[in-house]
Amino acid sequence: MEFADLFSLHGRRVLITGAAQGIGLTLARGLAAAGAELLLNDLDGAKLDATAAALRAEGCTVTTAAFNVARESEVVSGVARLEREGGPIDVLVNNAGIHRRAPLESMPLENWQAVLDVNLTSAFLVARAVAPGMIACRAGKIINLCSMNCELARPNIANYAAAKGGLKMLTRAMAVEWAKHNIQANGLGPGYLLTEMTRALAADPVFDGWIRGRTPAGRWGEPGDLIGAAVFLASTGSDFMNGQVLYVDGGLLAAL
Ligand SMILES: NC(=O)c1ccc[n+]([C@@H]2O[C@H](COP(=O)([O-])OP(=O)(O)OC[C@H]3O[C@@H](n4cnc5c(N)ncnc54)[C@H](O)[C@@H]3O)[C@@H](O)[C@H]2O)c1
Repeated sequence: MEFADLFSLHGRRVLITGAAQGIGLTLARGLAAAGAELLLNDLDGAKLDATAAALRAEGCTVTTAAFNVARESEVVSGVARLEREGGPIDVLVNNAGIHRRAPLESMPLENWQAVLDVNLTSAFLVARAVAPGMIACRAGKIINLCSMNCELARPNIANYAAAKGGLKMLTRAMAVEWAKHNIQANGLGPGYLLTEMTRALAADPVFDGWIRGRTPAGRWGEPGDLIGAAVFLASTGSDFMNGQVLYVDGGLLAAL
């Protein structure tokens, strides 16, 4: 194989959930630059349409599918339509995620459940819908958006930490069950990145100072910091890597 083919995504159909903004949108741009055809999902259909239009204007090939990744029937019909119209999905990026922060002792059950549903159950639902097509093709890549909270907890985000910890183990379970079908499932674990999800945290001088001090790189990450790792995990270059979480965190997890 030529070196250029190792990281090329030409001819690969890549489904990214929660892609209307933030990390999902940046990964869409990055994977498209490596040659991917984009299949973009989000809950917010209007925003997704605007995002898709902007990406098409940049030269990307984009199909959209607005659905709630936490609703089984919507996932099943959304993935079926994408496959019916364009064929099997080669790469799945489970990116959609939410936060509902509250102290653990008073966290409403609905906050707990919503975060488990969108950050963990959705990855199961979308991967379960996409996997039969990958199995039939004897090839597939699944990238689950993990977090520092796969490894470390913080106050007020017990739901998020439990979901991301579960996602790490779901990633391993996918690898163990589907490696025989030549499917690789890995996690991509960002450190603290500047997006809509972290806007309020970054605006808080105490939290902002804590992040800069806690992260050996001394700065917040940008979504673009993830592109190299995402292209690697989506490409032939990672064909013998399975069940791992690749952390892109400015060194945060290495430091006490
Ligand atoms: N920003 C960070 O610092 C950071 C760090 C670690 C992990 N992550 C993870 O990266 C992923 C993306 O985060 P982000 O910062 O880009 O967030 P974001 O809030 O900017 O974007 C999330 C997107 O997901 C969509 N979404 C939410 N619920 C959905 C649902 N039920 N169905 C479909 N789409 C839905 C939203 O509409 C939004 O477009 C999340 O899984 C998050 O947990 C983010």
